[in-house]
Amino acid sequence: MTTDFDAIIDRRNTHSTKWDDIESRCGVAHPDAIPLWVADMDFRAPQAVTDMLREAVDHGVFGYYGARDSFYEAQAGWMKRRHDWDIQAEWSLVSHGLLNGIAVLLQSLSAPGDGVIVFSPVYYQFMELIRKNNRRLVASELVVQDNRYHMDLDALQQQLTGDEKILLLCSPHNPGGRIWTPEELRALADFCVRNDIIICSDEIHHDLVMPGHKHHLMAKVAPDVEDRLITMAATSKTFNIAGIETGSMFISDRKLRERIMPVYNAMAISPNRFGMTMAEAAYRGGDQWLDDLMVYLDRNRRQLNATIASIPGLSVMDLESTYLGWVDCSGTGMSADEVLKRLYEKGVVPSVGGTFGISGEDYIRLNIACRHAMFDDAMDRVTEAFSDLQ
Ligand SMILES: Cc1ncc(COP(=O)(O)O)c(C=O)c1O
Repeated sequence: MTTDFDAIIDRRNTHSTKWDDIESRCGVAHPDAIPLWVADMDFRAPQAVTDMLREAVDHGVFGYYGARDSFYEAQAGWMKRRHDWDIQAEWSLVSHGLLNGIAVLLQSLSAPGDGVIVFSPVYYQFMELIRKNNRRLVASELVVQDNRYHMDLDALQQQLTGDEKILLLCSPHNPGGRIWTPEELRALADFCVRNDIIICSDEIHHDLVMPGHKHHLMAKVAPDVEDRLITMAATSKTFNIAGIETGSMFISDRKLRERIMPVYNAMAISPNRFGMTMAEAAYRGGDQWLDDLMVYLDRNRRQLNATIASIPGLSVMDLESTYLGWVDCSGTGMSADEVLKRLYEKGVVPSVGGTFGISGEDYIRLNIACRHAMFDDAMDRVTEAFSDLQ
C-alpha cells in the first residue's frame, strides 16, 4: 500500500464540516467525539492531487480556468479504464458539485409543482432540493428483503398521478450501500420509458465499490434510453476531495442537452480552477490510491458487521458500495431519540436515519471511512452504549 491511511491527521480547526461542525450541526458537545456522520473521509487525497496543487501554488497565478481538453481527456480515460464506458467531451457539463447539477436538472427538465420521484430512504439532500425548487416529492418506499433494499415498481406505478417528470436515482444507493443489478436498472429504465420520465442518475459513489462487487452504470445497462438519461459523477467522493465542489453531468443526447443549456447558462456556471485541476490530477493518478482505499475500508466494513452482529436488536445492511453503513435499530425497541442519546453520551456521532426520509426513522448511518484504530474505538463505544442489551 503506497498511501498511509493509518496516518493520524488532526482535522479540527481546518474548516472541516465533519469535525468542526459536530456541535453546531449535530448538537453533540462531547470533548472526544468521533464523527461518523457526513460522507467525508479522514484520509489525505492521492499524492497526484497534492503534487498538482503544489505545482499550481508554486506558479502562483490563479486566473480564470480555460482550455479544458486535458480535463475531458483525463475524465474519459478514467471512465474507460474503471467503468469501460466510452464518453465524449461534448456530453459533459461541469457543475459546482452534483447538488448544483441536480438543481439545474430540476429547473430545466420540470416545472414548479411537477412530481419528482425518489426511492426512499435516500440521501436527504435529494428531498431538500426537490422541496426548495418547489417540485412535488414523490417518495417510493424501498422494500427490505434479504437484508437489502428493493424497488417496488408496481407500487410506484399506483402512486403516479401523471405529472411526474423526473426520477432522481441514487446509484449505488446511499444510505443502503446497494449496487443496483443490471436487471433492476433495466426494469427501471423500461418503467421510465412507459411513464415518460427522465432519469437523473446520481452515480457519485460509483468508484467506491467493495472488493468482489462491480458497479453497473445505467448508461451502459440501458443505452437505448439516452434521450431521457443524465448520468452524474465526480472525483469528489472517490478521492475525498469534496471541498472542490466540482462534478460532471453526462448527457449523450444532443436534444436533451439543449433543453438543459438555457438554465445552465442562466446560472453562469463556470469551472473552478482548483476543482478542475484537482479532479484532473485524481483521474490521471488516483488508480492505485483508490484500489488501496477499498481494501482498507473493507476491513472497517467487516469490523462494523462484527460489532453490529454482536449487539442484540441491531442489524446492518450489506455494504456493497459507499463507506456508509446503514444500521437498523428497530429490534432494540428503543425510540430513535433513545438510540441517539446513548451514542452521543459515548461521543459517537452518526447520521440520523429519519433525515433520509420515509422508513429511515429506525436507522442510523455510520461512516466507516476513518483510521482503523479510530473506527475500533468507535465500535467499542457503540458496544458499550448498548451493553445492557447483552
Ligand atoms: C448521492 C449523493 N449525491 C450528491 C452528494 C453531494 O455531492 P456534491 O458535494 O458534489 O454536491 C452526496 C454527498 O454525500 C451524495 O451522497
